[in-house]
Amino acid sequence: MSESAKIGIVTVSDRASRGEYIDRGGPAIETYLNKVLTSAWQPYTQIIEDEQAVIEETLIDMVDRQHCCLVITTGGTGPAERDRTPEATERVADKLMPGFGELMRKVSLEKVATAILSRQTACIRKNALIINLPGQPKAISECLDAVFPAIPYCIDLLKGPFLETDEEHIVAFRPKKK
Ligand code: MTE
Repeated sequence: MSESAKIGIVTVSDRASRGEYIDRGGPAIETYLNKVLTSAWQPYTQIIEDEQAVIEETLIDMVDRQHCCLVITTGGTGPAERDRTPEATERVADKLMPGFGELMRKVSLEKVATAILSRQTACIRKNALIINLPGQPKAISECLDAVFPAIPYCIDLLKGPFLETDEEHIVAFRPKKK
């Protein structure tokens, strides 16, 4: 049996972290992963304030100490003063993965003109992939549907657990071995 994949889910929101409203983004990511993944996985969730140092520390902890193979953030990607998630992601990166942000913005623009306001990005830290999503809960499936086909192979290349998907929702693309 293959190992269970640990996946970090980070809600970045001042108000949700203070309990001023109920977090809907983190649970929406968990629901999405339960729908598309057929291989064993376990969530590691955190709700944190929009403070760059806290975001960086949370991402580092999830990768270096919790050994998450994938970390998905929601929120803090826009132009407002407290939006610092992309900066924190870039600060903890070993490698930037700009294609994720490019594709998610492209598909999001087909749904909503304000998609251009998201500076969402992705990176590799050690052997984990970190991906930013906007805070809007409906953005979660809009964005993940576009990039998820490439995620299992990316995790393979990082020598992480073998992620399997329900092909009714997501067909994971793995290039054939030569
Ligand atoms: N992308 C998708 N797919 N769907 C959305 O509704 N909202 C946009 C954008 N990207 C949106 C989206 C809006 S209104 C903003 S302000 C930015 O994401 C940044 O959101 P954030 O600061 O909550 O991360």
